[in-house]
Amino acid sequence: MTESAKIFDDIVNDRRAVRKFHPTDYDPEAITRSLQRSRLAPSSSNMQLYELYRVSDPEKLKLLSHYCMDQNTTETAKEMIVVVARPDLWKRRAKSNYDFVVKHYANRESHKGMSTMTYFKKLMPLLYNNDIFGIRGTLKKLFVQVIALRKPMVRQVNGTDIRIVVHKSAALVAQTFMLSMSAEGHDTCPVEGFDSLRVKKLLGLPWRAEINMIITCGKRIPEGIYGERFRIPESEVMFTI
Ligand SMILES: Cc1cc2nc3c(=O)[nH]c(=O)nc-3n(C[C@H](O)[C@H](O)[C@H](O)COP(=O)(O)O)c2cc1C
Repeated sequence: MTESAKIFDDIVNDRRAVRKFHPTDYDPEAITRSLQRSRLAPSSSNMQLYELYRVSDPEKLKLLSHYCMDQNTTETAKEMIVVVARPDLWKRRAKSNYDFVVKHYANRESHKGMSTMTYFKKLMPLLYNNDIFGIRGTLKKLFVQVIALRKPMVRQVNGTDIRIVVHKSAALVAQTFMLSMSAEGHDTCPVEGFDSLRVKKLLGLPWRAEINMIITCGKRIPEGIYGERFRIPESEVMFTI
């Protein structure tokens, strides 16, 4: 095993869901660095359809904790990060990617550059442009079912599928952030027990934005770990075929 794998082992083993944090001991810079690292997480089509809201104001933290059902982990958190999925920003993100490719491949007759441009100009609108009644999504589903009779085809093409796509990528950002916090000698707890509507209002988010998860931050105290770690046996979850 390499040295870095050993260090990574320590980081992964050290990360626990922490429900009680130390009242004073923590370094806000560790959060800043972890937020920066989290943005290196992969995202579907590199669309980066997420936003990260850092809540550090004591009054707002109190309110946010209340919206998280006053859980132990939110009540003692020094700061909280709200990871937001933004499927509604697809046009802006596709354009950013498109502009990047144009700039990057400006003076090259590159096949890769050209196909990537088509990808962001044609395929992304086809996938992400969904109406609230689900009509476009249903038509797309029917279309891919027919194509899939003859060859392998991506079948996740309607609005619900796209929401899942966006949440998957947002969760990878969240996990990268939490592992970085562990590497910084800090602790976190992912939280999905919250009133999403109230949290969205607190952050001033539009209705199509969705809260992916909230991450509490601080440094653990011994009572902050609720016992031994439990994992289902490997034989039940890992398969080699
Ligand atoms: C998406 C997600 C949502 C979670 N929501 C909560 C929550 O609302 N409150 C809480 O105390 N823990 C929450 N957890 C923490 C899990 O209970 C915890 O990760 C699990 O019990 C495994 O423990 P470990 O992280 O210490 O290994 C959540 C975890 C995930 C991944």
